[in-house]
Amino acid sequence: MILFDLVQASPVQIPDLTRCQVASASSDRGPPVTLYFNCCLPITGPIVDFSFEKYKPISKHIRRPAHTASDEYIAKYIKAYELMRALPDTDPRSLKVQANLHCSFCNGGYLQAGVTGDIPLQVHFSWLFLPWHRWYLYFHERILGSLIGDPGFSLLYWNWDDQVYGGNQLPQMFTRVNTSLYDEKRRVAVQRPTIVPLAASTPLNLNDSIVINQNLNNLYQAIVTASTATLFMGGELRAGDDLRNSTVMKNRLGGSLENGLHTAVHYYVGDPRTQLLQNMGNFGTASRDPIFYSHHTNVDRLWDVWRFSMPDGERSNHDDPDFLNAEFVFYDENANMVRVTVRDVLEHQKLGVYYEKGGSDDLWISYSPPARTNQSAVPVAVAAGVQYVREAPLNGIISIGTSFSAIVKRPSEKKQSKTLEVLNIQGVQVVRDEFVALAAFVNIPWAGASTATDSVEYLGTFNIVPSTDKSKHLKVNVKYEIGDNLKRIGISEEEEVVISLVVTGDSNAVTIQGVKIDYEDQEIDYEDQ
Ligand code: C2O
Repeated sequence: MILFDLVQASPVQIPDLTRCQVASASSDRGPPVTLYFNCCLPITGPIVDFSFEKYKPISKHIRRPAHTASDEYIAKYIKAYELMRALPDTDPRSLKVQANLHCSFCNGGYLQAGVTGDIPLQVHFSWLFLPWHRWYLYFHERILGSLIGDPGFSLLYWNWDDQVYGGNQLPQMFTRVNTSLYDEKRRVAVQRPTIVPLAASTPLNLNDSIVINQNLNNLYQAIVTASTATLFMGGELRAGDDLRNSTVMKNRLGGSLENGLHTAVHYYVGDPRTQLLQNMGNFGTASRDPIFYSHHTNVDRLWDVWRFSMPDGERSNHDDPDFLNAEFVFYDENANMVRVTVRDVLEHQKLGVYYEKGGSDDLWISYSPPARTNQSAVPVAVAAGVQYVREAPLNGIISIGTSFSAIVKRPSEKKQSKTLEVLNIQGVQVVRDEFVALAAFVNIPWAGASTATDSVEYLGTFNIVPSTDKSKHLKVNVKYEIGDNLKRIGISEEEEVVISLVVTGDSNAVTIQGVKIDYEDQEIDYEDQ
């Protein structure tokens, strides 16, 4: 219990839209550069409250995989985005304003309302991520449908988790030059038929079968074993929480779907010929590319798969009132401003949205990652002089370079049922504005840039997209379920384990403050997070 944090908590509110600031993103890759975005949103009238009655679905929106779409459906999709692109920039339904919605709530365009001090509103890196993006897609889809006069128009999902039927390549429909779905700012090396890796540390020139196995393991580690709401969806963010200054104990925590898989896809689609990996590789520009919405439709679908299709049964979302009552603002298909809450988006069927099952979900859901090792690496690591790292603040600030290994003690008390054993990399901070990926391994003291992520020693990757000046030096905790990994390796009786971290990107950029392994309840004790 952290007493000084017991301030009156409350849900995030919609910001005061009359107070917009210039948003920005910067990069130190090459000569330092800062891009400024005017993402200020048009105020079209009074903000009305969402109700299921008012937005009753006229027909079902059934979202299907993009790579299975018919030519006829693709033509419709192209038409819808053509019309959206053709709207004037002042029209909230235009692609320009749709993109600005994302930019303004990720890159510091607005400040939180009802709090003391100037705290930027940020919809990433916390439990707000999944519900905000689900609402975003909901209104985006309705706008596209209304532009082509088809109320049943449905977004297609980029089925990048599908490693069998070709979902893991850029969907062909988005790659046709001179159509409204094309964006020229994309990474050349990730064009079809390249398989898009789901860990940002994977080189693009590997053999397909290697990438496929790494992808399956990445999906397994980020979705199947991340069974709690905090691990998967991300941690709490309440009104007044400031991403820029938090104590190590209370550091924000993005979920495994967001910080691992989702962000890796942004990274690989972003164009390295631009300094900020535009468009997809930077939150300020990502949703200028129509593939963004298809990418996020898959993220949204995977949230559903996580909840309802896992072998251990149904999983629970956060249910804290400050989560349920958090509110956002969007534009509907008539350019009206609508106030929505997280509570109303949790069951997408109530919004008329349905998902057709992904082509090969079962392959990663039932994946059994192979173990590369079969005995504890601690003795070897001790002999090689690997240091012990304890929980923060006992270590000070540790600079991890390109790779770093530590011996970490496991908790001594016995594991109860219904608890997960969780590794917490505390106080991770990236001190430069550049895309950085931090991969974590257990029991491989020699892990480095070429260590593959296809075995059970791999715990996951935390990817950091440069997002904004204003949340520069973001400090977060990164958590991974580790019990399943230890069991599969056969070292679950050991008292200590070797944890290794590998950095892709700037090797001087990352510091941490501690590493801790603990049991966490499935039930979340919010006060202790
Ligand atoms: Cu708002 Cu994929 O990010």
